[in-house]
Amino acid sequence: MDLIQIIYASSHNQMPPNAIRAMLQQASTANQNNQISGFVCADNYYFLQAIEGDAYQVDKLFAAICNDTRHFNISLIKRRAIPQRDFAHWGMGAVLQLETHKHLLESVLPEPEFNPYQLDSLQSIALLKGFMNLKTLR
Ligand SMILES: Cc1cc2nc3c(=O)[nH]c(=O)nc-3n(C[C@H](O)[C@H](O)[C@H](O)COP(=O)(O)O)c2cc1C
Repeated sequence: MDLIQIIYASSHNQMPPNAIRAMLQQASTANQNNQISGFVCADNYYFLQAIEGDAYQVDKLFAAICNDTRHFNISLIKRRAIPQRDFAHWGMGAVLQLETHKHLLESVLPEPEFNPYQLDSLQSIALLKGFMNLKTLR
């Protein structure tokens, strides 16, 4: 399997957290069927998501995600080959209440406000892995 990881930022029109949760629940099931793992963080305006797995499957999923009208201004931060997965245990893990983790945001973000378009690939992955670790420890 040629493992790759894609990280991107996008915007949404204040999609309600319940709708985001329902969407990600479906995504998680579909991902597990396709051996895709990943993590997403979202606030009222933005998504920052990592998806990883077999190159063919991940590129196909990203194409579907880019055509999804529930979000817009999709900006690819990084597509890279990876030796191993960063989010192996998550079909699609998620943190939707970023503001309750201010210390993590402050330790990674260049600005106090969460704006994923300002992040480089190292900052993005640090943030997503930081949120994943918080969820795993809980
Ligand atoms: C922010 C966001 C993240 C998404 N993440 C996934 C995902 O990880 N896996 C997935 O199967 N669909 C995900 N989707 C849904 C896809 O865009 C798409 O609706 C789904 O893959 C079904 O595509 P299809 O109708 O072409 O089969 C996501 C959608 C959005 C808006």
